[in-house]
Amino acid sequence: MNTPDLAAWWMPFTANRQFKAQPRLLAEARGMFYRSADDREILDGTAGLWCVNAGHGREEIADAVSHQIRTMDFAPAFQMGHPIGFDFASRLAEIAPAGLDRIFFTGSGSESVDTALKIALAYQRAIGQGTRTRFIGRERGYHGVGFGGISVGGILNNRRVFTSLPGTDHLRHTHDLARNAFSRDLPEYGAELADDLERLVQLHGAETIAAVIVEPVAGSTGVLLPPKGYLERLREIATRHGILLIFDEVITGFGRLGTPFAADYFGVTPDLITTAKGITNGTLPMGAVFASRAVHDGIVKGPENLIELFHGYTYSGHPVACAAGLATLDIYAREGLLTRGAALSGTWADILHGLRDAPHVIDVRTIGLVGGIELASREGAPGARAYDVFTDCFREGLLIRVTGDIIALSPPLIVEEDHMARIAETIRAALERAG
Ligand SMILES: Cc1ncc(COP(=O)(O)O)c(C=O)c1O
Repeated sequence: MNTPDLAAWWMPFTANRQFKAQPRLLAEARGMFYRSADDREILDGTAGLWCVNAGHGREEIADAVSHQIRTMDFAPAFQMGHPIGFDFASRLAEIAPAGLDRIFFTGSGSESVDTALKIALAYQRAIGQGTRTRFIGRERGYHGVGFGGISVGGILNNRRVFTSLPGTDHLRHTHDLARNAFSRDLPEYGAELADDLERLVQLHGAETIAAVIVEPVAGSTGVLLPPKGYLERLREIATRHGILLIFDEVITGFGRLGTPFAADYFGVTPDLITTAKGITNGTLPMGAVFASRAVHDGIVKGPENLIELFHGYTYSGHPVACAAGLATLDIYAREGLLTRGAALSGTWADILHGLRDAPHVIDVRTIGLVGGIELASREGAPGARAYDVFTDCFREGLLIRVTGDIIALSPPLIVEEDHMARIAETIRAALERAG
């Protein structure tokens, strides 16, 4: 394949000039593998971007999408509806964690986050708590790139350049290698960090706080696991102070931890869940916010001729995305993919923890079918070592993701043991070559 002209596409979250000098182009995908534009097989260690949970090139999804475009390509969802949107919402409600069975469709994870924050504000106002306008996020959280999401997110580069919404604050993050390095599953120490919410309540007053949002397992900032008991404690403190708890499950939703949602894994029920990515197996842009009955019913009341929530997108409940989503849920159900990770997580952990003696490795952490491998940074050049490992792996036929000096792994949930072994071997060889 000829290299296309690279000038026009201003690429997202990419060092554009570096990339265009040495592009990495993917051209095809099937099952566990991509094929690069220079015709090499690349094992997908990241489910695309944490989204292709059922593996690539699923014919049923392609057929459903093609059929839906031919049947009805688009329909408005403002004061109109279409059966496939209602069907998809009902199917999502069936697999939702207890009681979170009211579904608001969006077009992406970022839109889901901004939607959930707006629902939280609308709910607090609707129940007579209109002074609650503040949001609490967490350091090292990632909630997409809308202004709401970057404000509650904890990635400094996202916030420094673009400024944050007023009235946002952050819990301390829970990442503590001194106490928790090489944890298998949940780290032992740090549940008390949830008490940071008490500190912010003392500082700002509970009556000013609408919601707290966290990723149950932080993905994009490097696979940060919640200490044992942390999420339970956060739930308890939020409830005690009338603060809504939002789980951002854009990554953990749809089977990543070996349960349908992280809320199921931890046995902690938030008031709102944000999702995207795996909802259509990454095939079409879509997201959904799952709301509790209490939140939904708190807003959907009053005069019946009035719009209850002034919010929505042209593509909310897009019929073609719904078709992709329904076909995706069928595959997840038939192949047991929403729980498959539970059976495989022990093998996954054994294989990745086998890298603990590889050069530069200062931590390995795993949960479900997620893995994080943290490397010592090169003196004065944070991120450089992991970037070298990333490009080395790509040359050797493996796609991984790196954030700073952390390697993040999240293979499609159809992964087999030999793929896991190949992931670990390729990374080990790259680490041995990395200076
Ligand atoms: C936890 C979390 N929230 C939100 C987002 C944003 O999703 P999107 O890129 O679809 O807007 C992401 C993306 O990785 C995410 O990991």
